[in-house]
Amino acid sequence: MENRTDLVRNIEELKKERNAVILVHNYQPPKIHEIADILGDSLELSQKASTTEADVIVFCGVKFMAETASILSPDKTVLLPDDTAGCPMADMITAEELRNMKKQYPGSLVVSYVNSTAETKTETDYCCTSGNALKVIEKIKELGKDIIFVPDKNLGGFISRTTDTPMHFWEGYCPIHDRFTADDITTLKVQYPDAQVMVHPECPKEVSDLADQVISTGRMVSWPGETDAKEIIVGTEVGMLYRLQKTYPHKTFIPANENAVCEDMKKITLEKVHAALETMSPEIKVPEDIRIKALAPLERMLAIV
Ligand code: 13P
Ligand code: SF4
Repeated sequence: MENRTDLVRNIEELKKERNAVILVHNYQPPKIHEIADILGDSLELSQKASTTEADVIVFCGVKFMAETASILSPDKTVLLPDDTAGCPMADMITAEELRNMKKQYPGSLVVSYVNSTAETKTETDYCCTSGNALKVIEKIKELGKDIIFVPDKNLGGFISRTTDTPMHFWEGYCPIHDRFTADDITTLKVQYPDAQVMVHPECPKEVSDLADQVISTGRMVSWPGETDAKEIIVGTEVGMLYRLQKTYPHKTFIPANENAVCEDMKKITLEKVHAALETMSPEIKVPEDIRIKALAPLERMLAIV
């Protein structure tokens, strides 16, 4: 078995050979952060996926992210080093279920969280990420139509409350963020009375209600630089803590719940990235008929950002 340095060196060499770019989500394991060309949240990564000059995109994340890259960049080869890395929330609604929901609320506009399958996006008017959902809804609100929001009832609820926009929700949720409770936050606030609290909008309402900031993982990277707080309680997947502590070594980041681990995000390893670049597989390629229909809501989203 090669040691890590050799493996990283080999990945770097193969990356040049293939003219590849490595996109890495914030929740990925630390070793994967170290090989990133771009490290970011879903929005930053989809923006990069739509503009990169590379021939190959290695997506270190989960399937809906790689699908989004394939939809935005059909001429590129998109590799997902472990194609079993999915998002349980994205799989909580099918295109068929969304079609039925649309029949229930005719004339509505459909907003799908980008954490959804390519098929679900084909039935969608606008996509959003947690980083731009407020902007997207503020924009759509001007159109004066009913809004269907899928699949995340927690992100949807937060956006609805914040923008004072009623919506029809699908009962989906992230099983990882669902683990946070109000008790997690209140207990830590007793232990760290001066701490500020930032949580992801996928957390349940009782948790978001107790937070100082309800923000995407991208914003979680910048916001600690804008507050005087030295201690920050973090309500999101624990992988986030690595980047935060590295970016702000003089601040203390406290996980609100250490069990908030997205196993799918942890399926990507250096060995799998190396194998993907060597074998040019597993490739994620969205079929053209689905891609064309799924592209429109993503383009509308990227135009609003
Ligand atoms: P971000 O868009 O904030 O990175 O969130 C993605 C995600 O999957 C959160 O669970
Ligand atoms: Fe999906 Fe939740 Fe994992 Fe994000 S943390 S990829 S929403 S299961």
